[in-house]
Amino acid sequence: MDAAYLSEWANLLLRWLHVITGIAWIGTSFYFIGLDNQLERPADGNPRVAGEQWSIHGGGFYHKQKYLLAPERLPETLHWFKWEAYWTWLSGFALFVLIYWVQASTYLVDPAVLDIAPWLAVALSAAMLAGGWVGYDLLCRSRHGENEALLGAIGAATLAVVAFVACHVFGGRGAFLQVGAMTGTIMVANVAMVIIPGQRKMVEAMKRGDAPDPKYGRWGKQRSVHNTYLTLPVIFIMISPHYPMTYQSRWNWLVLLAVGLSGALVRQYFVLRQKGANPVWLPAGAAAVVALLVWTGAPERPTGAAEAPPFAEVQTIVASRCVSCHAARPTQEGFAAPPKGVVMETPQQIRRWAAAMRQQVQTEAMPPGNLTDITPAERGRLLAWVAAGAPVE
Ligand code: HEC
Repeated sequence: MDAAYLSEWANLLLRWLHVITGIAWIGTSFYFIGLDNQLERPADGNPRVAGEQWSIHGGGFYHKQKYLLAPERLPETLHWFKWEAYWTWLSGFALFVLIYWVQASTYLVDPAVLDIAPWLAVALSAAMLAGGWVGYDLLCRSRHGENEALLGAIGAATLAVVAFVACHVFGGRGAFLQVGAMTGTIMVANVAMVIIPGQRKMVEAMKRGDAPDPKYGRWGKQRSVHNTYLTLPVIFIMISPHYPMTYQSRWNWLVLLAVGLSGALVRQYFVLRQKGANPVWLPAGAAAVVALLVWTGAPERPTGAAEAPPFAEVQTIVASRCVSCHAARPTQEGFAAPPKGVVMETPQQIRRWAAAMRQQVQTEAMPPGNLTDITPAERGRLLAWVAAGAPVE
């Protein structure tokens, strides 16, 4: 069996696993943040209980209580929440390696951005993944670690630098995913290296009959709150490969930051709503940021030289620049089947994909990393042909 074919199946199955575990993880994460924000003073006056919540779901009533530090005795069964997070990372990292490292010359390197060897791009990508977590963790453990406002400001500034660097080292799509993978790694490492070990120490202390150290509770809560704000930006990044107007924009690193900021504002809105406020200016602000992006990012209409070329010329361009991948049997190494089912061998097929072609060619998303060396003039010819109604005679 062909390696590229198997790689496509690995891609699909890993992606499926990643989405499933991601939903499970984010679901519990949002649930518990919401629960924390909605706790009310306990009715029965137990001094150890910090708050409680009544809720109704799936046809039943639930009564949950949060203990200030710990209950008097350790319950026999204690549910932990960690495998959702671990599997989200494992599947996501495997997918990232399969696409962006194994096929670095297609997806990570874009010579128009920076002409570096694929192995060097992979090495930089790995160093940034590890460095992101180490830097973030050191910051949280530093003496400013509990000053959330300062931490937020430093975090946002660092993210801006990372986005800028990634977008000037890697191709747009790879750069976005690099930032997403770094952020996702920080989120999972928060669970694996801080939250879960802290909880283990709390449980161990109780088993010895000691009171658990409250710092573990504080640290765990802090990281969990950070995670909640990072979630929506990361989800945007994960779906961005479908939208080349974001990652192929000239100001792609600003697009990344602006949409990320919008996601964090929307999350903040829900957090405040759970506490009883209704600051509609937050989602309104997020919408304004996105509207500004849409408006400023709109591609310019091509001017002059918009005469539609004869179809024969279009077919020649497509044959030399696109068909190595977009054929029923691609000749490009690493491609077992036409990507996204897009085949452009016959005039009818080329015409069928004309509208999609405009989006891909205009944003320079295709050919990926300009592997087939399409020229700006050829792009102009293809766009002029689409604008003229994609005639095939
Ligand atoms: C090196 C291989 C390669 C070359 C050359 C190439 N493409 Fe693609 N194309 C891809 C891949 C991979 C995808 C799927 C991208 C993704 O994963 O979203 C794709 C997707 C597309 C899509 C579908 C986009 C979508 O998400 O619906 C269109 C349209 C397209 N290409 C047009 C072109 C055109 C036009 C050219 C020539 C100018 C071209 N491609 C050259 C690899 C290639």
